[in-house]
Amino acid sequence: MQNQSIARLAIFASGTGTNAEAILRYFKDDPNVIIALILSNNPNAGVLDRAARFGVPAKVFNREQFRNSDVLGWLQKNAITHIVLAGFLWLIPGTILSAYPRRILNIHPALLPKFGGKGMYGSKVHEAVKAASETETGISIHEVNEHFDEGEILFQARCKVEPYDTPEEIAQRVHELEYKHFPRVIKEWVTKNKADR
Ligand code: GRF
Repeated sequence: MQNQSIARLAIFASGTGTNAEAILRYFKDDPNVIIALILSNNPNAGVLDRAARFGVPAKVFNREQFRNSDVLGWLQKNAITHIVLAGFLWLIPGTILSAYPRRILNIHPALLPKFGGKGMYGSKVHEAVKAASETETGISIHEVNEHFDEGEILFQARCKVEPYDTPEEIAQRVHELEYKHFPRVIKEWVTKNKADR
């Protein structure tokens, strides 16, 4: 029987994984929140090296394994209680959504509902923010449902965009917000979820 007071998180990431690393660092010595598994659809993702450095088991999967029950099986075998998406680019299949109701969180590098949806990821988001002459942008941390970037928003933080900022400079400012807030919001979210159980 699992200890209900301990949350066991899986992080899904497709890329470099700097957010995953911020989360790994934050929870390194937390006895109540264990980062138990890192999952990636990209065998060359930098996040896999970070997982190895922190001694966290990692698995790579393809579309078929994601859609059939392989990935769900790994989550269940590892007694995962919550899922965090940190730069993960595929839609979560219904089987995983129904196994983890309100237990999947994503971070988006803009102020949703603006600049979200299919194809809006990475530098494309910051280029679009610049092209729209926005004066501010930020991060949105939200629950995950069957649509891209559409679940309930739990937290947003803002930063300024100056007319002369490049997309790279905007990205850097947004990343700072991500590292500062995402781990802390995850901690609050799993703690609140526990109280709901
Ligand atoms: C972050 O900007 C995150 O908001 C978005 O994807 C990016 C991942 O960056 N969903 P990294 O791999 O964590 O460096």
